[in-house]
Amino acid sequence: MDKVIEIKNLSFTYPDGRQGLKNVDLNVYPGENVAVIGPNGAGKSTLLLHFNGILRGNSTVKICRLPVEEKNLKEIRKRVGLVFQDPEDQLFSLNVFDDVAFGPINMGYSEFEVKERVARALGWVGMGGYEQRSPHHLSVGEKKRIAIATVLSLDPEILVIDEPTSNLDPRSKWSFIELLKQLPMVKIIATHDLELVRALCGRTVVMDEGKIVADGNTEDILDDITLLKAHGLAH
Ligand SMILES: Nc1ncnc2c1ncn2[C@@H]1O[C@H](COP(=O)(O)OP(=O)(O)OP(=O)(O)O)[C@@H](O)[C@H]1O
Ligand SMILES: [Mg+2]
Repeated sequence: MDKVIEIKNLSFTYPDGRQGLKNVDLNVYPGENVAVIGPNGAGKSTLLLHFNGILRGNSTVKICRLPVEEKNLKEIRKRVGLVFQDPEDQLFSLNVFDDVAFGPINMGYSEFEVKERVARALGWVGMGGYEQRSPHHLSVGEKKRIAIATVLSLDPEILVIDEPTSNLDPRSKWSFIELLKQLPMVKIIATHDLELVRALCGRTVVMDEGKIVADGNTEDILDDITLLKAHGLAH
């Protein structure tokens, strides 16, 4: 089967010399929902930022066979929707509508299509009616939901979300999990929320100190208490 994401022996060092990733191998196939778990500082966000070329390491990541390099970035960012861990990094417009419409406008959709996409994405995250609010005057959980909507409005083939449920209240969290279950695209989710992992992801990758230390069936990984304890994921 064709790989949706292909990563071979990827290492990445931040400009200050801190090594974020060490020899990472990862293949993701169509239809997969993959959780990336691991303690703080494990390299989860660093890995995710390689999927659309925000960071680039020593080896070339491929998205649907396309190398993540300068000339392909536009095409890759159309396919890969990435929600940052911190919603402040995603929201920059004066109102919610403009933030959620930004991607679809950039892709050249008609005004009618843009409005439809914004309404649908805001509806999905339960934020219909917030169009004219300032993103910077929202609660943290509301910001997170808008940040997710800015990516959903693009209908990406690959949805990459860093900590989707942090700051969501339980009702929002579970309705968001239900939504993710219904969305057909490949999903890669970095999280500390093991309930989310069990509910959504068939496969789990465990990272620690920049390396992938386990990769397998979610139930097997989450039932392996020795593994979880060794990597700060259970006490
Ligand atoms: N901009 C940066 N410059 C230098 N080092 C960084 C930078 N961003 C992250 N790091 C370091 O890289 C390592 C991996 O960080 P990363 O943010 O990927 O961890 P994480 O697994 O996402 O953690 P968390 O669970 O806290 O979100 C950490 O040691 C971190 O201190
Ligand atoms: Mg992180």
